[in-house]
Amino acid sequence: MNPKKSLSSVQRILVVDDEADVAYSFQRVLAEEPVEVAGVTSGIEGLKRLKKEGYDLVLLDVRIGAENGMEIFRQIRKEHPRQLVIVMTAHGTAQTAIEAMKLGAFDYILKPFDVPELLSILRRALQTAASMRDLVPREGASSAEEKSPGLIGASPAMQKIYKLVGQVARSDAAVLLIGESGTGKELVARAIYANSSRAARPYVAINCAAIPDALLESELFGHERGAFTGAMGQRIGKFERADGGTIFLDEIGDMPLALQAKLLRVLQNGEFQRVGGDQTLHTQVRVIAATNRDLAILVKEKSFREDLFYRINVVQIQLPPLRERNEDILPLAEHFLRRAEKDRGLKFSTATKKALQGWSWPGNVRELENVVSRAVVCAAAESIEPGDLPPEILGHAAAEGTPGDWWKKVQEAAGKDGDLLAAGEKLLVERALNEAGGNVKRASEILGVTRAALRTRVDRHGLAGQD
Ligand SMILES: Nc1ncnc2c1ncn2[C@@H]1O[C@H](COP(=O)(O)OP(=O)(O)OP(=O)(O)O)[C@@H](O)[C@H]1O
Ligand SMILES: [Mg+2]
Repeated sequence: MNPKKSLSSVQRILVVDDEADVAYSFQRVLAEEPVEVAGVTSGIEGLKRLKKEGYDLVLLDVRIGAENGMEIFRQIRKEHPRQLVIVMTAHGTAQTAIEAMKLGAFDYILKPFDVPELLSILRRALQTAASMRDLVPREGASSAEEKSPGLIGASPAMQKIYKLVGQVARSDAAVLLIGESGTGKELVARAIYANSSRAARPYVAINCAAIPDALLESELFGHERGAFTGAMGQRIGKFERADGGTIFLDEIGDMPLALQAKLLRVLQNGEFQRVGGDQTLHTQVRVIAATNRDLAILVKEKSFREDLFYRINVVQIQLPPLRERNEDILPLAEHFLRRAEKDRGLKFSTATKKALQGWSWPGNVRELENVVSRAVVCAAAESIEPGDLPPEILGHAAAEGTPGDWWKKVQEAAGKDGDLLAAGEKLLVERALNEAGGNVKRASEILGVTRAALRTRVDRHGLAGQD
């Protein structure tokens, strides 16, 4: 029997959105699927319908007119803990995405919808609803209004990070944060902690690269009096202090091998000894580790233990460099400006904004933060001008500006006797993708072509872009 024809396999979706149009567009998009879409325009109405009729999937707007969609979501969770819910919003903030995933949302999507992406999420959700109705999200997650981790940026790449943060915050799994220097690893570690069930317990951070090898063991595990020259009294280490809470092991790639064995032991069975002590102590901590080095290479080179790598790499979150999410540059710059200017009412001039967006930010968010703080000090008037920026950014902006340079760049890319048109096209596509954070749909809007047309070119030039 064709499962599409069987009545019992028709799945039912409830759309809760104050704009009735949203439900209609879902009906249209899903016309070919074996689903039935119903729409209600208020959360209260949605709760009633859900109770009375039951649905396989709920699509919930977080702002339903005057109602708070998150409150409705909590109510749904309470009354139907196993209900699959996808949260939708037009205003992507870190905290709503994290909150939605923490409350157990199946996924979180931004309006306006990207149809192929939407379809793939819906299919996955419906499959899940059909096959494993026992996907039970954790109940009773505490409200986290004041836990906003201060993460800025609504690029698709960051939205993914927020989702992951919300998901891992629910568990006690070890998390490994990787990414270039200045991409926000420490901030994300704090966000995971602040949103976890251990938020009321200690958070202890240690930078393995900043402490001399000889002292690191005692920092981590403590020492007994007289353990080594200069060990005057007894000292309680970070693992002991973090008991019941979270430890953040920053720059873990720099930890000496000898100590890695001891770290593995405490992670495996919670046991450790203070330096110079013979008593075995116990601690129970959640570990978040970070590094900007490639641990897989270190493992190959035998400077990082493979077993430790697997221990800490249960969930991996990779923070994207700032140059891969250009749309976050200005919001971040504005954020740092507000923080640094102390009510002077400073603004970036248009030329300054352009220069900021044109730079590749090798030092990532930290570099941007420094550049903005410096510019605030330099700015004479109420607007920040390109002259207030460091010379390398300015130099780059100027070079980008002349058509002659662009021409040279195309010639270089094409090579001798190469196809200039193709080379120029590739550079343009690459640039638009860059600006769109790798999203093909957005890049196609920048270039004023259809998504399909751009997709063909992205593939033809062997570039990477997500749909
Ligand atoms: N998404 C973001 N929103 C707001 N501020 C951010 C964001 N990402 C990073 N920052 C800020 O940028 C600076 C660098 O971030 P952080 O220290 O977390 O980076 P890191 O990845 O740990 O870098 P490193 O590897 O050099 O230690 C911090 O001041 C942080 O507050
Ligand atoms: Mg760091």
